[in-house]
Amino acid sequence: MAIGKFITLEGIDGCGKTTQIELLQQYLRERGFTVETTREPGGTVLAEAIRCLLLEPRYGPVEARAEVFLYAAARAQHVAERIQPALQAGKLVLCDRYVDSSIAYQGYGRGLGAELVRQVNDLATGGLRPDLTLVLDVAVEVGLKRRRSHTAADRLEQEDLDFYRRVRQGYRELASQEPERVYLIDASRPPQAVWAQIKKTVDTLTWLIKG
Ligand code: TYD
Repeated sequence: MAIGKFITLEGIDGCGKTTQIELLQQYLRERGFTVETTREPGGTVLAEAIRCLLLEPRYGPVEARAEVFLYAAARAQHVAERIQPALQAGKLVLCDRYVDSSIAYQGYGRGLGAELVRQVNDLATGGLRPDLTLVLDVAVEVGLKRRRSHTAADRLEQEDLDFYRRVRQGYRELASQEPERVYLIDASRPPQAVWAQIKKTVDTLTWLIKG
């Protein structure tokens, strides 16, 4: 059975993931991979509906545990309906956010702790972990300023700076705990410099070099 590869991009709001995902997708396609690009929360009809519940301010404050389960429910559907089938077909799946977002935002940001969030997500995903995770690391002030300049603030973006500092810290801890999977990319630099660092990282991974 052909098994593909699973790459995720992560970072705080405004870290610049969208631009980099497009560049990475194009680069991997040029290298001969069949790439399936997707995002969380979302990626399937049900998961996109859950995304609306989570990100729309009109549903009011969501309890932290409820939030973990909603993200995990969306993720369970996404893994079963889209990610696993693509991997089984031998594709390279490129996903904008995954379990590490829940660990960083709900585990560290909202203070539920990494372990609880990991357990819930192991159930949701059947333990599917990415082969590679790129964390676009940028100071909270820089990220939020970038984000506010081009979209209206949603519920999550109204949270305070301390919340995002904890989220960033969560990502940094994940990178130091799992250095073989999670790579920190300096996203404070201009997009082309960020891309150069991503490309360099990807180029060093032997499993990504098609044989
Ligand atoms: P989105 O508009 O997609 O933000 P971005 O473009 O920065 O990815 O909104 C996703 C928001 O949901 C973002 O603030 C992070 C948050 N989130 C969590 O809190 N937990 C999760 O598990 C996921 C996937 C996202």
